[in-house]
Amino acid sequence: MSESRLLNIGLIGAGRIGSSHAELIVRTVPEARLVAIADPVEGAAARLATALHVPAAYTDPALLLADPAVEAVVITAPARFHAGLVEQAAAAGKAVFCEKPAGMSLEEIDRVARAVEANGVLFRIGFNRRFADGFPQARAAVEAGRIGAPQLLRSTTRDPGLADPGAVAPWTIFLETLIHDFDTLNFLNPGARAVQVHAVADALVAPDYRDAGLLDTAVVTLRYDNGAIATAEASFSAAYGYDTRAEAFGSGGMVTAGGLAASSLRYYGPAGLAVETVRADTQSMRGAYTAELQAFTHTALGNPVDGPGVEAAREALRIALGCIESCRTGAPVELSAAGAAR
Ligand SMILES: NC(=O)c1ccc[n+]([C@@H]2O[C@H](COP(=O)([O-])OP(=O)(O)OC[C@H]3O[C@@H](n4cnc5c(N)ncnc54)[C@H](O)[C@@H]3O)[C@@H](O)[C@H]2O)c1
Repeated sequence: MSESRLLNIGLIGAGRIGSSHAELIVRTVPEARLVAIADPVEGAAARLATALHVPAAYTDPALLLADPAVEAVVITAPARFHAGLVEQAAAAGKAVFCEKPAGMSLEEIDRVARAVEANGVLFRIGFNRRFADGFPQARAAVEAGRIGAPQLLRSTTRDPGLADPGAVAPWTIFLETLIHDFDTLNFLNPGARAVQVHAVADALVAPDYRDAGLLDTAVVTLRYDNGAIATAEASFSAAYGYDTRAEAFGSGGMVTAGGLAASSLRYYGPAGLAVETVRADTQSMRGAYTAELQAFTHTALGNPVDGPGVEAAREALRIALGCIESCRTGAPVELSAAGAAR
């Protein structure tokens, strides 16, 4: 029996989600081999590499990119470094899986697009909700016409807590949290483009940080060019767990996806009905993270599996950037046909 080929992956950024993705690559992606980890914090890559029996650890991501054993990279560094790292990885000929967002501006995303195109490498963005239970099925139902014409769409992200409000970079709620919801809305409204956004946001969880620019609670309304009206909403602190849900309602019906039950267990007792809820993205999205990393690996090995690329990254970012402008002006923002938030 011939040995099937494995994809040698290097991971850049050994923080919270990087540690989770590294573990998933090692334990749940049979077609991949994690061969290197890089993180500029002294000891961070080495500790994770030792724990997962990964052969190489670097403090300089450039050394990982120069490592000939690395065929593909998973980028889980902080958002502001993504575009530059994707450009360098593409120039080194590596297939790229990048956590969201792929850039902080449309100029950065366009540079990412050019680098990916010029070097002919695979690029995937970490919009994991497309792989979460119920979401691809919801999209398939919309595509099959089962809800009729989409009229109302909704997507929600409620994170379980805000440990350090002072460490949240400006506009994170749009660029790193709601960007999942914007992609979900785009995913559930195939072929349509957002044309207008209006964002209302505040620091309701940690009001002491409002003056420093924190936004921890937001509602966004969107108009699409097929007429659909959508809302996206986020909070950084849901007392009951990690809550992600979406809905697409149309002339012929409705689909919903997501939720926060930790399992199908329902406890019925003297106090009523109890459902245990998920407490972290790494718990609730474990299956989705696994599926997106498997899809990336399978595709990089030459067996294409659908997944979000540069265009999806750009479409969601232009909505996020429109939200920032809407917050600044207090008014709805038209997203130009050329794709830029004015
Ligand atoms: N898809 C999801 O559900 C999901 C969930 C969490 C985080 N994320 C995204 O993943 C990214 C990282 O988030 P996190 O919560 O793991 O952050 P984190 O701060 O916990 O980890 C970031 C790591 O990157 C390292 N780092 C810093 N500068 C670097 C550089 N120039 N090159 C390489 N590594 C560098 C840091 O030392 C740290 O270990 C963010 O873009 C975030 O939005 C996605």
